[in-house]
Amino acid sequence: MRNKITKAIFPVAGLGTRFLPATKSVPKEIMTLVDRPLIQYAIDEARAAGITEFIFVTSRGKSALEDYFDHNPQLESELQKKGKDDLLETLKSTNMDSGQIAYIRQHKALGLGHAVWCARRLIGDEPFAVILPDDVIAAEKPCLQQMVEAFEETPGNMVAAMEVPMDKAKNYGVLKVAKDHGSLVRVGGMVEKPKDNPPSNLAVIGRYLLTPQILENLSSKETGAGGEIQLTDAIAKEITEGRDVFGYRFQGQRFDCGSKAGFLQATVAFGLARDELRDELAQYLHEVVNIDKAAQ
Ligand code: G1P
Repeated sequence: MRNKITKAIFPVAGLGTRFLPATKSVPKEIMTLVDRPLIQYAIDEARAAGITEFIFVTSRGKSALEDYFDHNPQLESELQKKGKDDLLETLKSTNMDSGQIAYIRQHKALGLGHAVWCARRLIGDEPFAVILPDDVIAAEKPCLQQMVEAFEETPGNMVAAMEVPMDKAKNYGVLKVAKDHGSLVRVGGMVEKPKDNPPSNLAVIGRYLLTPQILENLSSKETGAGGEIQLTDAIAKEITEGRDVFGYRFQGQRFDCGSKAGFLQATVAFGLARDELRDELAQYLHEVVNIDKAAQ
């Protein structure tokens, strides 16, 4: 088995019902933070980590995603004619070369584990990454790159991890810590969305580096939390069979863009990070806070 990770799976088959009515016709992953779709943040992070093959697990109604990564020669030539070089560069940076990107359909919504399993033939016998585009992570060094560097030192299954308030642990995959080395944690068990008594408050965030054995584990199609085939369970099986699983406490700020509040927070944070927007947005936020205070 190779140790270099060049393939990433992006599970994007979800219906995005929390964002209805927008998601009636727009895939959730195309929704924008400032001016970039969620999926673009995920792709940029993958590229920075050395990923060169992008595998999308999609479903009905996601064709806008395929169009997004297509070249748009008409738009490119218009921008060129008008001398809009900056915009042209921005546009070209979203292009994917032929053969770099593959789309697989998940025909039934059977869970995250099942979505990953759908891509098994494109993965073969290599370690691979999984990125959940709902989890947007602002970081100086992109999160997946941090993990790939850790993986090169310490190969094994690795999940991004973050401390969450104990009462929120039920919304996540949760790690049982066997040994805490600081940024790296040896995982002694994993539970998907524990109803009560979570083994810790160290939650799994949507970045994974996985060995191909996980795909084997998923092929038994056992269901877990919520009646779904869970990726967490397939990773936990590695631990019971004596193979390594690590949690990686990444540096950076994670936004849960699967929720409206998280999406709005990310919009503000990414807006404030942009030179051309910062002053105007900061002033507006200031005014809003003052109006709010005055009203109380
Ligand atoms: C998924 C995973 C969960 C993980 C979470 C991170 O859950 O199943 O283990 O903690 O992503 O965002 P979801 O939020 O898709 O229900």
